[in-house]
Amino acid sequence: MIGKLNHVGVATPSIDESVKLYRDVLGATSITDKWVMEEQGVWVCFVNLPNSQIELIEPYGEKSPINAFLAKNPAGGQHHICYEVEDIIAARDDMAAKGCTVLNNGVPRIGAHGVPVIFVHPKNMGGVLVELMETPKDGAH
Ligand code: CO
Repeated sequence: MIGKLNHVGVATPSIDESVKLYRDVLGATSITDKWVMEEQGVWVCFVNLPNSQIELIEPYGEKSPINAFLAKNPAGGQHHICYEVEDIIAARDDMAAKGCTVLNNGVPRIGAHGVPVIFVHPKNMGGVLVELMETPKDGAH
């Protein structure tokens, strides 16, 4: 049911510092500006790779869900993996029917790519926080 790996989410205390790593050390040449996703409580920016993306996420606000992660992992770290699905509602219902816990009470949110996303609890996913996002209709990232 899952399709392409769309991106790997990496939490960081500072996107600006992380950009230096991806650009200057790893040599990434295409990195977006950062912007705020207020509803999700994060700053976000994408490192574009030939076959995928790294999503850098930094807390925005005291209620940011990233704060707890960074409390446990002060230097940041791998936070979630995002797979594409054809239909987010069908995917949500399928996960729920299989006994998985879908975060945000199963209500999809519009993600950083402008398409609906859900998150499935790591306890059901072998310890990995899994984001499912509807494949963008234009096929673009
Ligand atoms: Co993501």
